[in-house]
Amino acid sequence: MDLVQREISKETVTPYFVEYFGHEPSHVAAAPGRVNLIGEHTDYNNGFVLPMALENQCVVAVAPSPTGNHRWCGSLGDQIIEISPEDALHVGEPFWTNYVRGVLANLHRRGIDVGPVDMLIDSNVPRGGGLSSSAALEVSVCTALAALAGVEISPKDVALIGQAVEHEFANVPCGIMDQFISANGKKGNALKLDCASLEYELVPMNDPAVSVLVLDSAVKHSLADGAYGKRRQQCEEAANIMNVPSLREADLEMLEAAQAELGDVRYRRARHVIGENARVAAFAKALSEGKWDEAGVAMRGSHASLRDDYEVSCAEVDTLVSLCDRIPSASSIYGARMTGGGFGGCIVALVKTEDVEKVAQELLEAYHHETGIETTYLVTRPGDGARVLV
Ligand code: GLA
Repeated sequence: MDLVQREISKETVTPYFVEYFGHEPSHVAAAPGRVNLIGEHTDYNNGFVLPMALENQCVVAVAPSPTGNHRWCGSLGDQIIEISPEDALHVGEPFWTNYVRGVLANLHRRGIDVGPVDMLIDSNVPRGGGLSSSAALEVSVCTALAALAGVEISPKDVALIGQAVEHEFANVPCGIMDQFISANGKKGNALKLDCASLEYELVPMNDPAVSVLVLDSAVKHSLADGAYGKRRQQCEEAANIMNVPSLREADLEMLEAAQAELGDVRYRRARHVIGENARVAAFAKALSEGKWDEAGVAMRGSHASLRDDYEVSCAEVDTLVSLCDRIPSASSIYGARMTGGGFGGCIVALVKTEDVEKVAQELLEAYHHETGIETTYLVTRPGDGARVLV
């Protein structure tokens, strides 16, 4: 994965679309990846999350296909895949087409049939790094196809469609966070989401003195391999034992009372979720008051809990986070933590803008020195959510 950004826009994809398909796209849509600032593994527990949209995005150009079949190109330079309208509603090969098939199938279920589509996809959201490249894909495809069909789908429903695609077509039992922020992000803001009601508030994140640094561990992560689903199951069991509908309704008192019955693993999983929901609230408050040190305390607590109680970090990611306390410019970092599903992927750090490039270089060097791994980073501001590009 390479976090170095390549510009993409309607202007960059349109000439390729014309070259591949021989006609202009009728609609072009974009949707971003995300970095989660705090609130990890809480979404499927009806809890709180606080992600922000990246400036990196997936751009999708579409037009009705004159051929009677769908013709899709998954990224620049790739072969065009031709699929019949019937086949396109089912799981198939190559794997990436399932994200498009899943959106078509979900639209079909809602009575929306778009007909055969010529489609070109381009993305600068890094893949496999926990920055939600697949949510960006589902949400941008859904936004482009809704525009093509001339129907309005609310951002909330676009997010729910994206989540259904993950469950049904990619075998990933994810929560709603990634698709929701991709559909609803607003430039200059992070977003605090209540995953039970899907109500949200925008949290301004536009202090020029503080930058968001995302650094890749270069350890590839996958949520389809069972460890993620296992965590979900352990959380559901813990909620059952404590006799609450979800861990959202549990508190530390209930947890202590049920400790023996929960057993060590479920106890620690539940302790993470309960603590993480509280840390989201503390982080949001700190942000609204500009108290970056306090925001950093919440981030450190989140990482320790994900590492020790939830056990979704890995040695390399822990090294990166601990380097944030050990490099010469450590005092320019307010806080750092793993971000996303875990088992590899990226860390996110809040850093004094004046020192952010220096901090990034020191981290790259120290990480290489300690692990032998060369990697990349990006400095980003909160970007916009899904939109049709005009
Ligand atoms: C992945 C999932 C999200 C969320 C995070 C962990 O990104 O797609 O729904 O569960 O992991 O916070």
